[in-house]
Amino acid sequence: MRVEKEQVAVVTGAASGIGYGLAEALAARGVRLVLSDIREDGLAEAAASLKAAGAEVVTVPADVRDQSSVTALADRTMTAYGRVDLVCNNAGVVSPAAPLWEQRADTWELMIGVKLLGVVHGVTAFAPLLIERGTGHFLNTASSGGLAPLPDRTPYTTTMHAVIGLTETLDVELKRVAPTLGATVLCPGLVDTPLGRNSAALGAIELPPGTPASMRDLAARNGGILTPRETAEAALTAIESGHLHAAPGTGVTERARARVNTLLNSLPAT
Ligand SMILES: NC(=O)c1ccc[n+]([C@@H]2O[C@H](COP(=O)([O-])OP(=O)(O)OC[C@H]3O[C@@H](n4cnc5c(N)ncnc54)[C@H](O)[C@@H]3O)[C@@H](O)[C@H]2O)c1
Repeated sequence: MRVEKEQVAVVTGAASGIGYGLAEALAARGVRLVLSDIREDGLAEAAASLKAAGAEVVTVPADVRDQSSVTALADRTMTAYGRVDLVCNNAGVVSPAAPLWEQRADTWELMIGVKLLGVVHGVTAFAPLLIERGTGHFLNTASSGGLAPLPDRTPYTTTMHAVIGLTETLDVELKRVAPTLGATVLCPGLVDTPLGRNSAALGAIELPPGTPASMRDLAARNGGILTPRETAEAALTAIESGHLHAAPGTGVTERARARVNTLLNSLPAT
């Protein structure tokens, strides 16, 4: 799908980080925006910055864990603009660092609620609108942690693997309806965002000792880091190129290739 002026895009988790980067990149292409987030103060600040730069923005606070909240977001989008072209299911939190057997049940519930059901709720609310229009695209944010193992973050990495599988299947289902419909999954490496701080503010993690203060600290140990805007541009390039996956970031290709090679090596030779 071409991303063009006058189109309408919805972004969840838009108050910060990758969601804000997507909003900036879309606004730079003249796309009209519906921005959503659970943090109303952050959402208002993000909208004010984008409007000051000339963007057309509507804000709708919503909790992606709640289907009725996301359905209200879809209704508000149609009331405001009468159309929707691109839906970015991006909201997220990170889980505490611990091996699987030490992860708590409420962490699993939160991660599945936000990271997996949040995407399901977005597709359920918006797919009928895209199908009725006969054209449109979903961009679901997963992570490079969904392309390969990510030790000590199983609630996070499990939902990311699920969002990748969900998006691959969704794309087939949408293209069965019309070839002008589709989905892309964004699987970046490290991105310079306040994901840890926002997750702590939302009660997802406690930032215990040993948790890096920022993504930059993690990057210092693991290699490079992307800006949110670079990540967003990679996602839009993938959408416009008809790619199902966008996986920007240092070492992401190598980790994904290693996992696929391990899988292929485990399969019986034909
Ligand atoms: N930062 C990274 O290194 C990185 C790498 C790969 C993938 N990701 C993924 O990118 C997505 C965006 O994260 P980010 O790094 O930009 O972090 P961020 O904290 O800057 O942005 C996430 C936003 O989601 C919002 N949010 C959280 N729970 C919500 C809910 N229930 N309903 C609505 N909004 C909610 C937060 O308020 C926040 O504004 C996440 O899904 C994350 O897992 C991040």
